Amino acid sequence: MANTVHVALGERSYDILIGDGLLSGELTRLSAKLKLGRRCAIITDSTVRPLYGATVRDALAGAGLQASLLTVPAGENSKSLKVSGELYEHLATAQLSRRSFIVALGGGVVGDLAGFIAATYLRGVDFVQAPTTLLAMVDSSVGGKVAINLPQGKNLVGAFYQPRLVLADLALLRSLPEREFRSGMAEVIKYGVIYDAKLFELLEQRLDALMAKDMAQLAPVIARCCEIKADVVSQDERESGLRAILNFGHTVGHAIEAVAGYGGYLHGEAVAIGMLAAARLSQKRGGLGAADVARIESLLRRAGFDLTLPAVPFAKIIAPMRVDKKAVEGKLRFVLARRIGEVFVTDAVTEADIEETWNVSRR
Ligand SMILES: NC(=O)c1ccc[n+]([C@@H]2O[C@H](COP(=O)([O-])OP(=O)(O)OC[C@H]3O[C@@H](n4cnc5c(N)ncnc54)[C@H](O)[C@@H]3O)[C@@H](O)[C@H]2O)c1
Ligand SMILES: [Zn+2]
Repeated sequence: MANTVHVALGERSYDILIGDGLLSGELTRLSAKLKLGRRCAIITDSTVRPLYGATVRDALAGAGLQASLLTVPAGENSKSLKVSGELYEHLATAQLSRRSFIVALGGGVVGDLAGFIAATYLRGVDFVQAPTTLLAMVDSSVGGKVAINLPQGKNLVGAFYQPRLVLADLALLRSLPEREFRSGMAEVIKYGVIYDAKLFELLEQRLDALMAKDMAQLAPVIARCCEIKADVVSQDERESGLRAILNFGHTVGHAIEAVAGYGGYLHGEAVAIGMLAAARLSQKRGGLGAADVARIESLLRRAGFDLTLPAVPFAKIIAPMRVDKKAVEGKLRFVLARRIGEVFVTDAVTEADIEETWNVSRR
């Protein structure tokens, strides 16, 4: 049985289905139900294609659809203008029309890229997300942000463009490397901290089973994360306010990624360190109790995160925070926790606060 999460966005509303082994069956069933057209392009990456590409294509073909499979190299570098240009030309050569649809079969890279292509090719065609990483299931496939990178920075060209459907097939997580899986778990823990104390408690109770990819336990947890993100996004589709709470742990996390050079840390690994820093700052400026800071730290450690700060001087870490897109008029904006399950956005955190936390954590 699939868990279903409805994303309420007026006429752009859609469902997220979460379950073990649902992809091929539900894709063919729902593409007909949603009247998605008879032609589609599945965009995937070079790692996912040999694992699942043919199965998905054949399932669609078996239902009488014309499906082409387009593969980009695995990795962040594919979120580029160059790769986008190649994809547009493939779609045009294959004569995909306005009535066609695009399936993103992959992690966040493929989801962001294929979503960007779907938003722009012929001024927009229907789009289905089939996330294959834990991060994509709980985060990037929900919310409608699609983008590619420029040499000057990440996600600088993009759109808000909602999919018609998201199919999160947990069976695909079985092949996901443990490190990638753990990285996604950082975002799962984040949802508990920012929005749902009960989820956080559940994670404390079931973390070992979840880390062992016990699908029966994972399904409701992933569904709850999607529900939380959908809830936040429904209230703030275009990121003018509430959506900022999703950035808990990300101010420091992004700075660590920037300093280490993208590639040194997986996103979730940097965010895990960032969440511990944010928890400590919350104790200082947000009223979070020491016991709750300890619970956050302990859960992150149990998930297997190395929370050692990178060996860089404070000046190096603060520089990217100053230019972070959350900094408004020179003030740093932080998401802090009042308690587990409740956060707020503030510009009351000073550089001195961060420096103190940074140095204490280094000892
Ligand atoms: N749009 C959003 O709201 C949003 C939110 C968060 C992150 N993102 C974006 O998501 C991207 C990161 O996504 P990601 O962490 O999923 O990385 P990714 O897409 O690069 O996937 C990680 C690696 O796992 C491989 N892989 C994927 N699924 C697999 C499977 N089932 N089995 C084996 N290997 C598999 C991929 O080929 C890749 O090598 C970044 O570009 C980031 O900007 C977007
Ligand atoms: Zn994140």
